[in-house]
Amino acid sequence: MADNILRIAIQKSGRLSEDSLKLIKECGIRFDNGAGKLKTNATNFPAEILFLRDDDIPGYVEDGVAHLGIVGENVSEESARDVDTVHKLGFSRCRLSIGVLREHDYQGVSDLQGKSIATTYPRLLGQYLEANGVNAAIHEISGSVEIAPSIGLADAVCDIVSSGSTLLSNGLKEVETIFRSEAVMIASKHLSDTQKTLLDQLLFRIKSVQAAKN
Ligand code: PRP
Ligand code: ZN
Ligand code: MG
Repeated sequence: MADNILRIAIQKSGRLSEDSLKLIKECGIRFDNGAGKLKTNATNFPAEILFLRDDDIPGYVEDGVAHLGIVGENVSEESARDVDTVHKLGFSRCRLSIGVLREHDYQGVSDLQGKSIATTYPRLLGQYLEANGVNAAIHEISGSVEIAPSIGLADAVCDIVSSGSTLLSNGLKEVETIFRSEAVMIASKHLSDTQKTLLDQLLFRIKSVQAAKN
């Protein structure tokens, strides 16, 4: 594989996609973004953009298949992949929170003792429960987590909250925040010297873009 270009993985569609593309464009990197394309070449910088599912990005970066990735810290931390977090990007801020049914008279984290919690984040939730001395059953599901309490699948949920509208429309209230997240740039630990130089150039451009906004 060519070690003189940077492969940058971004989310194909979801909460990070638009701002990730915008950041790359604001860095002056031009590319042809044909609809449905999963890989595209930059035309004025030695880079390729890969469009992937966000949950897959830390693994690709760890393996060095992608050299850089833009993901939520929540996804990167949950994955426990061995990558470097090189820069915080300041967009897609959200929190990983525990929610319970609105009518539940929640008093504190010890109320979760012996309960079941549905989540896509078993690792981060497990760490939080352990740190708080709570023994609860973690129910790992891959999506539509917020429906679980109302159909009797779990007593509580642990999922990403941004506007809060998903919790609200499923009759839930947010009771604990366990992790605060924003988009970050992650990098492979196996970059060539050329790639390290390209990464420095890219980070310089990103910092300039960020400084111009403040
Ligand atoms: C998260 C989470 C909720 C929603 C909450 O999904 O799973 O469904 O966003 O946002 P809200 O508070 O603004 O309603 P995400 O977009 O991260 O998608 P994914 O879990 O499929 O990657
Ligand atoms: Zn996802
Ligand atoms: Mg989700």
